[in-house]
Parts: sequence; C-alpha cells; structure tokens
Amino acid sequence: MGTGCGINGILAARGGTDVVALDINPEAVRAARDDARRNGVDNRFEVRLSDVFDAVDPTADGPFDVMVFDPPFRWFLPRALLEMATADPGYRALTRFMREARLHLSDRGRLLVFFGSSGDLGYLQRLVAAEGFETEVLSHKARVDAGWQVEYITYRLRPRKA
Ligand SMILES: C[S@@+](CC[C@H](N)C(=O)[O-])C[C@H]1O[C@@H](n2cnc3c(N)ncnc32)[C@H](O)[C@@H]1O
Repeated sequence: MGTGCGINGILAARGGTDVVALDINPEAVRAARDDARRNGVDNRFEVRLSDVFDAVDPTADGPFDVMVFDPPFRWFLPRALLEMATADPGYRALTRFMREARLHLSDRGRLLVFFGSSGDLGYLQRLVAAEGFETEVLSHKARVDAGWQVEYITYRLRPRKA
C-alpha cells in the first residue's frame, strides 16, 4: 500500500513473492513499474493506481499474507500530489487502510506499518486497537532530522483472535 518507488514490494518480489503494489500517485505507479522492470521482477510485481483499496477486489485478488504500508504520517492537507507522500489530511487513508485491512488478509496474514513520532502515534495506536489488531514493535530507531529528534517505528500487526 502506498508503494512509492516500489522498494518494499520489489524486495519481496526478489525473494520470490507475488506482489500487488498500490499508489494514488500516477508518478509513483510509473516509477514503481520502471524500478520493477530494472530489477527484473516485473513478472511478479503488479502495480495499480489506487486510492487505498479501491483497485483491489477481495474476491479476485488475495487474500494477502503480508500487507506493508509506509503511510504519510502528517495529517495536514497536501499542497500537491507529491506531498501525498507525507501528508494524509485527517488520516483518511490510514484510517481506511486499518478499517478495511482484515477483508484482504489471509488467516495467517499480518501488516507491517511504519510510523514516526512526527506523526500522531497516539492516533495510530488507538486505531490499531479499535480495529482489533495486536501490536509488536519490530524496530525502533531515533534520528535527528532537521534539528529535531524523530523516532521511527516498524510495527507488525496481527488480527486479535476472537
Ligand atoms: C511515505 S510514502 C511511501 C514511500 C515508499 N516507502 C518509498 O520508499 O518510495 C507514502 C506513499 O503513500 C502514497 N499514498 C498516499 N495516500 C494514498 C492513498 N490514499 N492511497 C494509496 N496510496 C497513497 C503516496 O503517494 C506515497 O507514495
């Protein structure tokens, strides 16, 4: 989800995984397709223009074992398409992703979600809990970005068993 240049999906495809990569930005879709071709994985890496899951049909596609989202984690209005890489007004895309993720996940499916302390981590944690996912922190790194210390976290999320 939100594949950007396609790096995460291309790494998965290089490991032998079939990937459906989605992005709302047609430039990202073009870049991800080019990068997949350059890396020799375009036979197992399909890129679609999509607002969140719009271009995914749960009966024809998936279910998916892993869904990866490196979301825009600022909640203000993007001034241009490019800024949709960092800005998601009111966390519309993030919220929809978390609300609909289960529909597309296999029984052993999990999500990998990247987030940072320059976003609203409390919102993400409440959303994840409300949608019934268990959280595990896979990696937690701090770095100084433009003079500010920012924490970057990778979460693995699994649907809580009933
Ligand atoms: C932080 S960037 C991901 C960058 C990617 N990990 C990379 O290395 O290129 C977030 C991505 O989400 C995409 N995005 C934002 N809103 C979206 C939406 N509603 N549906 C699908 N993709 C979206 C952006 O266009 C952007 O490519």
